[in-house]
Amino acid sequence: MENKKNLNLTLKIWRQKNNQSKGEFKTYDAPNVSPDASFLEMVDVINESLVVKGEETIAFDHDCREGICGSCGFMIDGNAHGPQKGTTVCQLHMRNFSDGQTVTLEPWRAEAFPIIKDLMVDRSAFDRIIKAGGYISANTGGAPDANAVPIPKYDADEAFLSAACIGCGACVASCKNASAALFTSAKITHLALLPQGAVEKDQRALDMVAQMDSEQFGACTSTGTCSASCPKEISLINIAKMNREYLRASWTKKEAVHGGDMA
Ligand code: FES
Repeated sequence: MENKKNLNLTLKIWRQKNNQSKGEFKTYDAPNVSPDASFLEMVDVINESLVVKGEETIAFDHDCREGICGSCGFMIDGNAHGPQKGTTVCQLHMRNFSDGQTVTLEPWRAEAFPIIKDLMVDRSAFDRIIKAGGYISANTGGAPDANAVPIPKYDADEAFLSAACIGCGACVASCKNASAALFTSAKITHLALLPQGAVEKDQRALDMVAQMDSEQFGACTSTGTCSASCPKEISLINIAKMNREYLRASWTKKEAVHGGDMA
């Protein structure tokens, strides 16, 4: 579906002053939208018209607008980041919509992501998971030569695919359990595959999973919606790898405590 002509759309947008207030959908006209505009540019134009009318603008997160930073994200017609697979909302173009269409915008819905305002949610739960173990130990001094540590090609490729996670939260928002398993597993797997991540490997798996469990996220039941809606198409295999890392780390810790006598 690709439109060449300018579009006239009706938008139903979730408006909510803050986390304490009651939200509601409000209807806006979006006339004469260029098919080459990005979705966020279209909302920018709506906001400009609201400023002219002296009304409060629609709050939404964004930064790079290049699909890199993970700041943007909301539900469009029930889909995280909208209808186009493997695309962030900042990279979604209006040519993917039809003239006369009604489009519904609402924030990520998850206990762990409380609404800040309108389409903005607080994703600091992700930051706390990263803080729990998303780092490596490195000696101070000059940066080592990038090729000084040999890494098998397969591991480097797999680590790169996991590292592609931008932490936008689409996985949580699209999961019926609001699980953060895909996000957490991508971060654990990325570092577990690399020699630089080996130092804290076990503790990282234990701490990041514990932090994930302590937030308001639900449990993973392997429905796979997270991966299907991920703008970076992070694979479900990461979750299997996280479970393996966690089990091995738990077992290693028990062995250390019991001196290898597990009978
Ligand atoms: S604004 Fe950075 S990924 Fe969309």
